[in-house]
Amino acid sequence: MNYKQELAEILFVALEQEIQVSELEMLIEKPKSQTHGDLAFPCFTLAKKKRKSPNIIAQELSEKIQSPTFEKVEVVGAYLNIFLNKQLVSKEIVTEISKIKENYGAQNLGKGANVTIDMSSPNIAKPFSMGHLRSTVIGNALAHIVEKCGYQPIKINHIGDWGTQFGKLITAYKLWGNPEIVKQNPIKELLTLYVKFHEEAEADPALVEQGRSWFKRLEDGDEEALELWKWFRDESLKEFSRIYDLMNVEFDSFAGEAFYNDKMDRVVQLLEEKQLLVESKQAQVVELTSEELPPCLIKKSDGATLYATRDLAAAIYRKENYDFDLSLYVVGNEQSLHFKQLMAVLKKMGYEWAEKMVHIPFGMMLKDGKKMSTRKGKVVLLEEVLNESIALARHSIEGKNPSLVSKDEVAKQVGVGAVMFHDLKNFRMNDIEFSLEEMLRFEGETGPYVQYTFARACSILRKANWQDDRIPQSFDTNWEKEWKVVSMLLEFPNAINRAFENFDPSQVAKYIIDLSQAFNKFYGEVKILEENTEQQARLALVFAVTVVLKEGLRLLGMEAPEEM
Ligand code: ARG
Repeated sequence: MNYKQELAEILFVALEQEIQVSELEMLIEKPKSQTHGDLAFPCFTLAKKKRKSPNIIAQELSEKIQSPTFEKVEVVGAYLNIFLNKQLVSKEIVTEISKIKENYGAQNLGKGANVTIDMSSPNIAKPFSMGHLRSTVIGNALAHIVEKCGYQPIKINHIGDWGTQFGKLITAYKLWGNPEIVKQNPIKELLTLYVKFHEEAEADPALVEQGRSWFKRLEDGDEEALELWKWFRDESLKEFSRIYDLMNVEFDSFAGEAFYNDKMDRVVQLLEEKQLLVESKQAQVVELTSEELPPCLIKKSDGATLYATRDLAAAIYRKENYDFDLSLYVVGNEQSLHFKQLMAVLKKMGYEWAEKMVHIPFGMMLKDGKKMSTRKGKVVLLEEVLNESIALARHSIEGKNPSLVSKDEVAKQVGVGAVMFHDLKNFRMNDIEFSLEEMLRFEGETGPYVQYTFARACSILRKANWQDDRIPQSFDTNWEKEWKVVSMLLEFPNAINRAFENFDPSQVAKYIIDLSQAFNKFYGEVKILEENTEQQARLALVFAVTVVLKEGLRLLGMEAPEEM
């Protein structure tokens, strides 16, 4: 049931079928205030086509909108303000959600086509940074959103597991490392070794040479070097997977940078065949002057390949293996240039599908207004952050609901959800200030607030002994107090659409905040459990709210505890 479309179809006929339904549908707005109706239609753009003043068009159209769905049409200048029939629409929407439940809002824009999502992608032997957290959370939400729109998401963790830094790390380990200590606390210890290498190398340039030679051995497949590298990689992945488990994030592929080692010769060869490679300062580059970009570095003077070379191989590999319709890269804003170069090179190579690649950048996580850095010992360990959040959530649940049975489980859902929601509620390009205290508030625009609203709605349904398969019957009055909630339910598919079109999960986050606020207001004003002719219909409305809140949270990667 799509009232915008229904209105557009009426307007189509009223306008002598001169303007496409889809075009009319796009012109329909949602008035800011409900006193101006539920839908608005501006007539300005029609004036030229119709050779009439927009105000006259509005007047004429208003007389032609006759349908039980549209109860009242007001003309305000060149605008039509249209009021939905509350009783009819309430009944329709609540009934539909009762029937199709979590499928409400689903669309088939993608027709099953693949969307690859490059997300999370931390670097091994280094702590999981806040930037990687953002990429994980945003990428995961986008995966759910594209799936809801009928695409098949493929989540790829492009692990940073190759590069000259591993030569340095092996050198440091050989000189100062202790296997037992590394086993106990791999990432912390490997980072310490890496930092020590840089400190010592300042006084002893021979170390740099050693690092280089270990990396050379690694690239040449030396057994000892490979074994150490593999060990560092395994230990790091073990640690990362604890974080992914906490956040309930899964991947379809962990093909990282090293995976492309044997796939780069082909890329270099293709570039040579297409005569795109030129020598510059002994290195091999692709010139991007006509694209107004700096040259893309493909091979260093010593023959070593680079991050960009691996990304070229990865893009081609993904096209060949997943035949993607869209290829998303959820990577921080600071890598914008890299992705511009990547796409430009692929276009030059003649790959039209490069148009289907989208870099989805995001801003920084700040602490007291400054970038949260993982460098120089100032490490913020993400696992610690998540565990602290869970502990704080546990503490407030203890205070609010001491008799709750599954406190640990709920604390995890609330604590982790709070961190995720805080990340997702603002447009991703905005920098965000990291504050556990702020994230975990139960009021305001937070994850716990939405989860708490959901739990509250569930508790009403429990008290009323509501059965999920019940389909409401009586919708007798015109539901003034309920209307804001109903009209928010109508908005869910639009919020999903906006989130998809802009690759912007905050559209869903803001939506569930608004729905929660509308519901809580209704809850405060109406005695839902009171036995009267409206009770069943109201309970059905409460049920519809729980369905949509839970689905909205799921799209963001969050859980919806029924009690908290
Ligand atoms: N490992 C990289 C980093 O931490 C991010 C990789 C992003 N994905 C890619 N295909 N380049 O900066």
